[in-house]
Amino acid sequence: MPSRRQFIKASAAGLLGAGLFRPEIGDAGLPPFELIASNGQAVFGDDQENATRVMYYNQSIPGPIIRIPQGKESVIRLQNSLDEPTSVHWHGLRIDNAMDGVPDVTQLPVLPGEQFEYRFTPPDAGTYWYHTHMRSWAQLARGLAGVLIVTEENPPRVDQDLVFAIDDWRLDRNMRIDTASFGSMHDWSHGGRLGNFITVNGDSEPNFEVAGGERIRLRLLNIANARIMNLLFNEPGISVIALDGQPVEPFTPDAGRIVLAPGQRTDLIIDMTSAPGSSTAIELVIGEYAYEIANFTYRPEIRREQLLETPIRLPDNPANKIVLPTEFKHVPLRMQGGAMGGMRSAQFEGREMDIRELVRHKKVWALNGLVGMPSEPLFRVKRGTAISLDVHNDNSWPHAMHIHGHHFVDDRNPGWWRDTILFQRGEHGAMRFLADNPGKWLIHCHMVEHMAGGMLTWFEVT
Ligand code: C2O
Ligand code: CU
Repeated sequence: MPSRRQFIKASAAGLLGAGLFRPEIGDAGLPPFELIASNGQAVFGDDQENATRVMYYNQSIPGPIIRIPQGKESVIRLQNSLDEPTSVHWHGLRIDNAMDGVPDVTQLPVLPGEQFEYRFTPPDAGTYWYHTHMRSWAQLARGLAGVLIVTEENPPRVDQDLVFAIDDWRLDRNMRIDTASFGSMHDWSHGGRLGNFITVNGDSEPNFEVAGGERIRLRLLNIANARIMNLLFNEPGISVIALDGQPVEPFTPDAGRIVLAPGQRTDLIIDMTSAPGSSTAIELVIGEYAYEIANFTYRPEIRREQLLETPIRLPDNPANKIVLPTEFKHVPLRMQGGAMGGMRSAQFEGREMDIRELVRHKKVWALNGLVGMPSEPLFRVKRGTAISLDVHNDNSWPHAMHIHGHHFVDDRNPGWWRDTILFQRGEHGAMRFLADNPGKWLIHCHMVEHMAGGMLTWFEVT
């Protein structure tokens, strides 16, 4: 496979200046956490003249890593120092509805200069993330996201616990965030905002030092607006141990390949077995090209002769121990619209509109013929009802469907509990879960331009 470097070649490492992310200072520290969302400047590449306006948490891209214990209450105070409203959503956490961070659904938007105190007890350990849920197509594209780790009481023994938060930026010729294309209907009706510059933890092609014989836990997150990441690992000793935070029976991915749709996470255990002094690449595969996005560089000395043989199965979470009944309330969900999708009309704001009128409103996606947040929920059920969302992807694009506040089983891979799954064009499948968390919850595509373009709905658990 031909190997190329970044699509736009940066001669220096990723984000410099204000946005520089350093893993050692990236930790949010001890609770209560302060999360300050603000505007700032960052430099992609090495030309200090070409600073670009970003939005970030605690002046870091991505935001600080927040580590909180499973089953204990944490308090995270958001200060909005932006000049526009915002909110924080805790992606994948099964917490109180009032803390879910969806503006005008679970809380009021947090206005500039205001604060909001998020207080919750995460029931499940694992790898999660937090991000803006307000005008995500612009705020997320400018940097408002971070990693949240809910720590196990007894994690598996590893030598290093690493995070790869992978992001996709669209930069212009001057290596500044391309703002001219914000809101582009072409992006919204096609695959979303796809970038041309990949960062891992805010850095371009970072090196991670390892030693032979080490066991590493690697938490992969796709925090991009819309890009599906096809990753290729050139290390033989890989096991997948968790998906979207939830433990799975460990398995070796096929040919070192891992697919991460926007919003998804995969936890790996890697036993490092390459030669001392060598380096191995992690690549992003796009079409027939593979781009190096990060490297493991081996120290000259090895850590140990014999690999660790302790078990790597994570302790179960309450989420993945839920036993689903065999009878479900079936709710069909047809995903419609987009370029080459053949949608002629759909209902928006209570009225049937033809596609031209919809485009004028920047609405090009529908679920069951409805565009945008409908006034009535997709379904309203009593707490404890088992739901099967029977999804049909009736359009020409892949979509990463996400449910708030619940984990579900994908009937195509029934052993796994997930919060976000990918439907390729034409695919169908069922998302099955126990609606056991009271409140109003979103279901939407995590290609955030598709969500903004209408692909979202909600349900209510009473
Ligand atoms: Cu991470 Cu409503 O999303
Ligand atoms: Cu989508």
